Amino acid sequence: MLRKIFGGSKKQPIDIDDIDKEKLPRHVAVIMDGNGRWAKGQGLLRTAGHAAGVKTLKRILRLADDIGIEALTVYAFSTENWKRPKEEVDFLLSLFSEYLAKELAEMHEKKVRIKFIGDRTGFSEKLQNEMANAEELMKNNGGILFTIAANYGGRDEILRAAKLLAKDTDANIDSLTEADFEKYLDTFGAPPVDLVIRTSGEMRLSNFLLWQAAYAEFWYTNTPWPDFSEREFIEAIKEFAARNRRFGGV
Ligand code: IPE
Ligand code: IPE
Ligand code: MG
Repeated sequence: MLRKIFGGSKKQPIDIDDIDKEKLPRHVAVIMDGNGRWAKGQGLLRTAGHAAGVKTLKRILRLADDIGIEALTVYAFSTENWKRPKEEVDFLLSLFSEYLAKELAEMHEKKVRIKFIGDRTGFSEKLQNEMANAEELMKNNGGILFTIAANYGGRDEILRAAKLLAKDTDANIDSLTEADFEKYLDTFGAPPVDLVIRTSGEMRLSNFLLWQAAYAEFWYTNTPWPDFSEREFIEAIKEFAARNRRFGGV
């Protein structure tokens, strides 16, 4: 498919057809960071940065789908983000509801399959219902798997998985494999994470997909999430294609 897009400030078309489809990451995970600093730089409140970040997310989801990436996972709210001022937390939670209300129909039409990972019991019943309804609506869609990590922490996920396993009377502990254990993780069924992208210059995982990213390639940019462009996403995909993944071999 020939699709020219305009990326970044350069306003030059980028051709997505020269991306080697054989070397595409199956699963891209994004730590959408830098909303607050972006807002500060614009003389705005941090919350305005989160609102701007939603727009970037829409663009990147559309692009990932067009390129033919199987799964996109985005870090929207960590188990540590409750430490932020109440007004900011409340704003982020209301943004989830608003996003679902506004974007669901279009995503469904594009055959997106939405999924939430993280401990959703931390959210209001209303938001939990909105999440469950969105998942239910799109569960049979065959398009991109779009996972939103909300109240997500890698350690929390592994601990919850361990608890599920401990309660599973059918589990044979002695012969349990890594593949068996993955069945208890929130991400069960998703392809392995190939590429982790982090924006705004930070070079840490911040408790994101600790198990799943064990052998992912890492790519980062100094650009804050609201300014993250299609051009940069493609740059990351192309750089991934050129990497030599050894998985411990030679
Ligand atoms: C990422 O942007 C969004 C969330 C964590 C929800 P930040 O809010 O962390 O922005 P900075 O890192 O403070 O600039
Ligand atoms: C990670 O970003 C969480 C999300 C992007 C949702 P943070 O901004 O919360 O991470 P730290 O505090 O810089 O590690
Ligand atoms: Mg941050």
